[in-house]
Amino acid sequence: MMKHLTTVFASLLVVAGLAATAAGVRFEAANNASTTPGGQRFDEEYGVGYAVQVMSEASFFTWKIFNQTELADRRAAMDDRVKLVVNDINGNILGFESDSESSITLNAGYVNNITGDVRTLVTGLLYHEVTHVWQWGQQDTNWTHGWVYEGIADFVRLRAGYAPPYWVQPGEGSSWDAGYSVTAWFLDYCDGLRPGFVTVLNERLKDGYSDDDFLQIMGKPVQELWRDYKAKYGG
Ligand SMILES: *[C@@H]1O[C@H](CO)[C@@H](O)[C@H](O)[C@H]1NC(C)=O
Ligand SMILES: *[C@@H]1O[C@H](CO)[C@@H](O)[C@H](O)[C@H]1NC(C)=O
Ligand SMILES: *[C@@H]1O[C@H](CO)[C@@H](O)[C@H](O)[C@H]1NC(C)=O
Ligand SMILES: *[C@@H]1O[C@H](CO)[C@@H](O)[C@H](O)[C@H]1NC(C)=O
Repeated sequence: MMKHLTTVFASLLVVAGLAATAAGVRFEAANNASTTPGGQRFDEEYGVGYAVQVMSEASFFTWKIFNQTELADRRAAMDDRVKLVVNDINGNILGFESDSESSITLNAGYVNNITGDVRTLVTGLLYHEVTHVWQWGQQDTNWTHGWVYEGIADFVRLRAGYAPPYWVQPGEGSSWDAGYSVTAWFLDYCDGLRPGFVTVLNERLKDGYSDDDFLQIMGKPVQELWRDYKAKYGG
């Protein structure tokens, strides 16, 4: 406990935020928009201390989904550190993760616009962004298969119980590769048929995505799985 507090106070001085270390990873959060309405709302209804706790919990949850019980199984975060910064960004953006730095940005403007429960929605967003830190395959770039990475991040959010009200419903969407919640519900369906599907998919993504991943893991082509999935929900 003392050690933890020492870390916390030391980092307060350094980044005007909070930090804690768990499983060899340092979790840090700072509010760089405290003077804006959204930043104030973040401080009042969420807080950097709570964000540090949630990022740590979300990491353990993600490792569990990915079946990465050993440190050696996990992808390393840059400098073994996961950072959150609340910033006021122009535009209709909720937040994002910058993979080269394992850093998460939360848009204060989004927090200001939230009409529902700030705690639940921001926590859900953090689960999504924290998943990006730990998932394999993002070097499969130009974001050519961005949908699969976004789908997995939302799948973890879903399994953690933080599917937000603005998501599509299960069975909605016109293609498995629409990304985000459309893909998350589809992955949830596949994982229901074959528990551990997402674990294995994530593992295979080390070598980049291919439609063959679905065939190899599920024994059926992705197109056929999608048709079955749509049929389950009445087309
Ligand atoms: C904090 O906000 C200022 C002003 O918007 C910006 O220039 C700076 O890059 C931000 N710092 C971080 C760490 O994001
Ligand atoms: C917040 O709402 C305003 C007004 O509707 C909108 O212009 C702005 O883009 C929204 N910001 C975010 C981050 O969603
Ligand atoms: C990534 O994009 C660049 C420029 O758009 C292109 O030259 C390159 O071939 C792309 N790489 C892959 C792997 O698609
Ligand atoms: C999880 O890991 C254990 C131990 O390495 C392994 O036996 C098991 O098959 C894995 N489960 C999945 C779904 O990959």
